[in-house]
Formats: sequence, C-alpha cells, structure tokens
Amino acid sequence: MTPAISMAYLFSAIMFILALSGLSKHETAKRGNYYGMVGMAVAIIATILSVQEGNYGLIAIAMAVGAVIGIFFAARVEMTQMPQLVAMLHSFVGLAAVIIGFNGYLQGAPSNELMGAVIKHDPVHNVELYLGIFIGAITLTGSIVAFGKLNGMISGKPMMIPGRHMLNLAIIILSVVGLIIFTPAHYSTQSTIILLVMTVLALFLGVHLVAAIGGADMPVVVSMLNSYSGWAAAATGFMLSNDLLITTGALVGSSGAILSYIMCKAMNRSFFSVILGGFGGDSSVADDSEIEGEVKPIEIDETVEMLKDADSVVIVPGYGMAVATAQNAVADLTSKLRKAGKEVRFAIHPVAGRLPGHMNVLLAEANVPYDIVLEMDEINDDFPETDVVIVIGANDIVNPDALDKPNSPIAGMPVLEIWKAKQTIVMKRSMGSGYSGVENPLFYKDNNRMLFGDAKDSVSKLVAGLD
Ligand code: TAP
Repeated sequence: MTPAISMAYLFSAIMFILALSGLSKHETAKRGNYYGMVGMAVAIIATILSVQEGNYGLIAIAMAVGAVIGIFFAARVEMTQMPQLVAMLHSFVGLAAVIIGFNGYLQGAPSNELMGAVIKHDPVHNVELYLGIFIGAITLTGSIVAFGKLNGMISGKPMMIPGRHMLNLAIIILSVVGLIIFTPAHYSTQSTIILLVMTVLALFLGVHLVAAIGGADMPVVVSMLNSYSGWAAAATGFMLSNDLLITTGALVGSSGAILSYIMCKAMNRSFFSVILGGFGGDSSVADDSEIEGEVKPIEIDETVEMLKDADSVVIVPGYGMAVATAQNAVADLTSKLRKAGKEVRFAIHPVAGRLPGHMNVLLAEANVPYDIVLEMDEINDDFPETDVVIVIGANDIVNPDALDKPNSPIAGMPVLEIWKAKQTIVMKRSMGSGYSGVENPLFYKDNNRMLFGDAKDSVSKLVAGLD
C-alpha cells in the first residue's frame, strides 16, 4: 500500500470516529453524517486507486449497479420502513463476508496454483477465513429473519424449538471443532467439507437465534445484528489485509455492542437472555384475566378544553406518530400550548417507534426544542404532578401490564407510568394492539380517554381548535 493510500485510509478512519461522536448528540448529528459521507467517499476512491491490476471496467459496472439499486430503494423507503432497510443492509454485509471468505479459500485451490496464484493458506489466514464466514453467515440469515419480523412477513412471536439451548451449544461446539481441524489445513476436500458444513450450521444458527426472540425484544436484535455486521466487516478486512475495513468494522461492531447493552439496560433485560431467546415470560401461557373498566372516547372539542385548562402537558410519541407523519403537527401543537403559557414536555421511551432514537429524529426534524425532550428516566417521576398526558400513537411503551403481569411478553420492561397523571388522552385509530401484540389496560382506566383517528388529523384539528 502506498503512503498516499495509507494517509487516505487514516483520514477516513478519523472521519468515521468523528461521525460516531457527532451522531451521539442531537446538535451535532447532521455534522456527524457529513463526516461519515466524506470519510466513505475518500475510502472508496482510495480503495479503487489502490487496485493495481484490477479490471476497472468491471468495478465501474458493479458500482453503477449498486448505486442505482441503492438510490432507488433509499428514495422510495418510508421513514417507518427504515428498520427493515437497515436489517436488509446488514444482511448484505454478512453475504459479502461469506462470499469474500469462500473466494479467499478458493484462491488456494490447486487450479489457482497452476495459474500462478499466490497460496495464502497459512493458519492465521485460515482462522480469519473461518471466523469471517461464520460471523457473516449468522449475520446474513439473522438479518433476513429480522427483516421478515419487522416487515410483518414472519410472526413477531418467539419461535421456541424444544431443547433450543442444547441445539445452539451443539452448533457452537461443532463449529469450534471444525475451526481446530481447519486452522492448520491446506486446500483439500476435507477442508472444503468442513467449511461448507460450518457455513450451513452458521446459516441455521442465524435463523434460529433471531426467530427465538420475542417481539418486544426486537430492538436489541436490531442493534445486535448491527454489531455482528461490524465484526463481519472487520473479519473481511483481515481476510483482505485492508486496515480501513478492520478499523471501520471494529467501530461499527463495538458501537453496536454498546447500543445493545444500553437497550438491554433500558429494557431491564440481560443481554445473554435476549440473544439466547425466549426472555420476558412464557407468552404462550394464555392470560384470560378480564381487563376492568370501560373505554371512554373523547372528541376534539372536549380535548381542546382540557388542554386549555391544563398548566402542565406531557406528550408521549410512539410508532403511530411516525406512521401518521404527525411530527410537524405535533411541533405546531407544542408551540401553540407554550405560547399559551403551558409547560409542555416530551417523554421519550428508549424503544419507542422501530429504531433506536426514532422519536428524537422525528422531533428534531420538526424543530421541537431539544431541552423539552426528556428521556424516560428524567420524566417518569413527574407524572403524578402532570395535568394532561397526550399519547400520540404509542401503545407498548405505556402498558401497565409490563409492571403488573409477570406472564406478559413485555413483563419487566420499564414503561412510562403515565396512568399516574391526572388525565391521559390516547390518540390512535382503533383498539388494536401495538408491536408486541398484547392488550393495554391503560385504555380502560378511569382517568383515560381515547381520541380515535389518524394522529396527524387529530393533532391538526387540536391546533385549529386552540386558535
Ligand atoms: P406500538 O406499541 O407498536 O404501538 C403503536 C400504536 O400506534 C399502535 O397501537 C397503533 O394503533 C397506533 N397507530 C398506528 N398508526 C397510527 C396512526 N396513523 N395514527 C394514530 N395511531 C396510529 O409502538 P410504541 O408504543 O412506540 O412501542 C414500540 C414497540 O416496538 C415496542 O414493543 C418495541 O419493543 C418495539 N420495537 C422497537 C424497536 C426500536 S429499536 N425502537 C425496534 C423493533 C421493535 P392503531 O392501529 O389502533 O392506530
């Protein structure tokens, strides 16, 4: 590698670190994105220039096809479909790691030797190949299953195969044995079989691990697959002796792991119980206890009067706000209430929506001031002193059963305890359940009213009513 290419790679690595640090705060997130884009552009150009005897025509065609597909999907994807897109992109990283791994292995084939190819099958390279293919294959199928679950093509319920932990353990042990035999080996039929068997096992493990995880634990899966895709990229970097890919993969891998840890902590889950599947109570146990209370709908006019009478208002946005693209109307409602002298704050649950930080991104896009957007821990104790809580298309994150019913699929997950407020108003279109598919007793409580309808429509009418 020439010094110029090394310098370009170093520059890109620094840009990626600045991008990550920028993305950690609202105020600097946009700048963080720009750093990432510049870093990636320099990385791509430097990598192309470093190819000494490459087929530039083929590289150009591959890049053009990739760019067209990327632009086509990115332009069409709805904000609510971002998690699926991210899961799909993770699967591509996994696929690339598997293909590059096999390519690296086949370069050691005798036919290549005859053609003068350099045989690189030293033990260290074998370990890189093996681990790269293993992590890549898990990422590939795990991400495809996550895509299916997020897209609604596969049931969100955990798939519990009997003896699943033993099965996982057996696959891991077989894979480790395979690694021990494969490490010192040269290209041979036996090595090829070991590599193929391990790949099939890893592909199955990816499906099994993610299929076993229940709906409400999906946020951790998304960040975990993010981390896996980083490690798969780092392993690919080792296979290709590309320092930048190693650094970038390690950055993605470790930031995904940190995010998974933060999510687990926020949801009161142990990381291992989530990745091994089936945490959160046995959701197959039917809970036939009746919900007490009755549903009391409310109309726009009465809601407007309640808001006019309130001194303190807390807004709880959820996935429905994203579906309805109601964030700008919500920002208008906020400024109207603030102008009328009310204290308005937002309560953000760590897994609200379908992506980490989903609600923060939407509110930032609508220019809601950052200082009134509070995390769950910062606001959960304030509900007893709050006059009105408005829930905009949220459900699971305000479900009291998470605290009250040990058998619930969301049991143990901390929730926004809004039922302690003087009055709550839930905006949604029907009595339908949220992502985890469970009923919500909040809707039946004495101090709750349901404002049925599309969230954007309802909030716009409230704004007009407050004029
Ligand atoms: P959900 O529990 O999914 O509830 C969203 C509610 O929005 C639904 O009950 C729906 O009711 C309502 N809604 C949909 N479209 C609407 C519209 N146009 N107008 C008004 N309401 C609308 O969302 P949440 O409370 O934000 O909780 C998030 C859930 O997703 C959690 O279970 C979490 O574990 C899971 N999850 C999160 C992530 C991340 S990383 N955040 C990733 C994967 C899964 P109607 O149909 O009756 O309108």
